[in-house]
Order: sequence, then C-alpha cells, then structure tokens
Amino acid sequence: MDTLTRIEQALDAAISAHEVAGGPPRLTAAIRHAVFPGGARIRPQLTLAVAMACGDDDPALADAAAVALELLHCASLVHDDLPCFDDAATRRGRPSIQAAFGQPLAVLAGDALIVLAFQALAAGAGRRPERLASLVGIVAAGTGMPFGIVAGQAWECEPRVVLSDYQRAKTGALFAAATEAGAQAAGGDGKRWRALGDRLGEAYQVADDIRDVLSDPAMLGKPVGQDASLGRPSAANQLGLDGAIRHFESLVAGAIEAIPECAGASRLRALVRMESERLVPKAWCDDVARRVVA
Ligand code: IPE
Ligand code: IPE
Ligand code: MG
Ligand code: MG
Repeated sequence: MDTLTRIEQALDAAISAHEVAGGPPRLTAAIRHAVFPGGARIRPQLTLAVAMACGDDDPALADAAAVALELLHCASLVHDDLPCFDDAATRRGRPSIQAAFGQPLAVLAGDALIVLAFQALAAGAGRRPERLASLVGIVAAGTGMPFGIVAGQAWECEPRVVLSDYQRAKTGALFAAATEAGAQAAGGDGKRWRALGDRLGEAYQVADDIRDVLSDPAMLGKPVGQDASLGRPSAANQLGLDGAIRHFESLVAGAIEAIPECAGASRLRALVRMESERLVPKAWCDDVARRVVA
C-alpha cells in the first residue's frame, strides 16, 4: 500500500471510531469536513517516512502517531480560520469550517479534533504500551505551551515577536513532533530526528509566506495576501521576496543536512527536495531574481 493510501485509511478509521449513533450530527459532519478531503498531508507523510527509516516495527503505532499529527494540524487550521484569528472563508478549495458550520461549531470541531488526536494515539499503542508515554509527551509539546502551535498562534497577540520564534512555534513544532514521533513509534531515537522537522517546519512556513504573496487563491485553495492585510509578521515582509526565497533555500539545505545517516536517508532527501520544488517552484525564484536585477 502506498503511503498516502495508508494515511487516508488510518485517518478514516480514527474518525469513524467516534461516528457512532447518538453524537451531535453537525459536529460530526464538521469534523469530517475539516479532515477530508485533505491537503498535502505533509506531516503524516513525514512521520511515516521517518518510521520507515527506523524500521517501522509497529506500523499501527506509526499510523496512530501520523494520524494524531494530522488531526492536530487540521484542528489548527479550523481555529486559524476563525474570525478572531485570520477570518478566512475558504480552506482547501472549499468553505472553511466557520463559513460552512458557523463559529460555535468551528471552535468545538477544533477542540474535538485535538482530543481525538490523543485518543487515536492511545488506541494505536496496544502492542507497545511502553512507547505511549514518550509519544504523548512529544505530541503534546508540539501542540501546547511554551513552544507548540498554540504558543505560535499566541505570538500574534504580543506587541513584539522574533520572526523565527513565531514560525518555529506555529509551524515548526508540529513538524519536529512529526519526525521525533515517527522515530519513537518505531523504537528509534526520536531526539536524533528533531532537527530535520524543526528546520523543515520553519522552511514550510517561510514558503507559505512566499506563496501568500506570489500565488493565487485557485492554486492555494485559501485566501492570499492575508499576511499583509492582517499585519502578520512574515518572511516576505521582513526580508523581501528575494531574501525570503534565500532564507527558504538555506532552511531546506539545513533540513537535508539534518537527515541522520540511515537506510531511508536518500528517500527522505528526495521527499524534501520534491516538496521544496512544489512549494516554491524554481520558476518563481528565477522570476524574483530577475526582478531584483532589473
Ligand atoms: C497550512 O499548512 C498552514 C501552514 C502551516 C503553512 P499546509 O500547507 O500543510 O495545509 P494543508 O494540510 O496542505 O491544507
Ligand atoms: C499557519 O498559519 C499555522 C497554523 C497554526 C494554522 P497561517 O495563518 O500562516 O496559515 P494559512 O496561510 O492560513 O494556511
Ligand atoms: Mg494564521
Ligand atoms: Mg491563516
């Protein structure tokens, strides 16, 4: 089975387990809308790629870690689109949860997805319960205070923020948890894998900032120009487009360097290179470089 199919099946099983008769139907529908169809599924792909590089000796636990990280990511998007944050009406080419179901259900669907992530993780640890405590710690650290995605969003409420602190928390933390948990779920040494996720996550957010300026809503499936209109700290506004692209390239190079030597290293390097070209195509870099020269 290919990795994306494995992820979709594991996500569906985790959500279906809670879609039993008797629950509030609109909340159930909002949760499904928030998860399917998905976006790039980059975090769970990363978790499984690292688990495979570490031998993947308990695929059910690796799946559970991958599912937990994707559900937390989906929760963060549902909350991020609320009027009190970015007030976005579209996500993944469809109405956002707040647009389709209203604010109260968007708050609750995000909350339920956070809880569901930990339920899925616990449910997958049947064969290796001794790995659960460290996995919960890794996933929780990527989510909460002081350096997880919740903390990252909270930097938007502060008068001053260092760009890389903001980006490493709001996006890097879940990527670092994705690589560390992938290793830990397979009995590997999670700490060796954190730097890869940390650098890749920051690169991913820098790319998102560049795409917010250079891309269009049809391609992204979400509004563009948000960082400028909301006054968000962004690599594009702090470094200029040319500087942001160079920063992105150096973070990607750092991520590739951080891949520990292992059997799956070349597969991982290829995945990082492919993703970086998808996010910031070379044609954009050339175009921006030409504009700087002109
Ligand atoms: C969007 O993440 C928010 C950021 C952290 C940049 P993704 O670009 O991974 O969103 P989906 O899951 O593919 O929609
Ligand atoms: C992404 O923030 C990080 C989250 C925790 C949601 P953004 O606001 O930059 O992401 P998009 O552009 O809405 O996907
Ligand atoms: Mg935001
Ligand atoms: Mg946003």
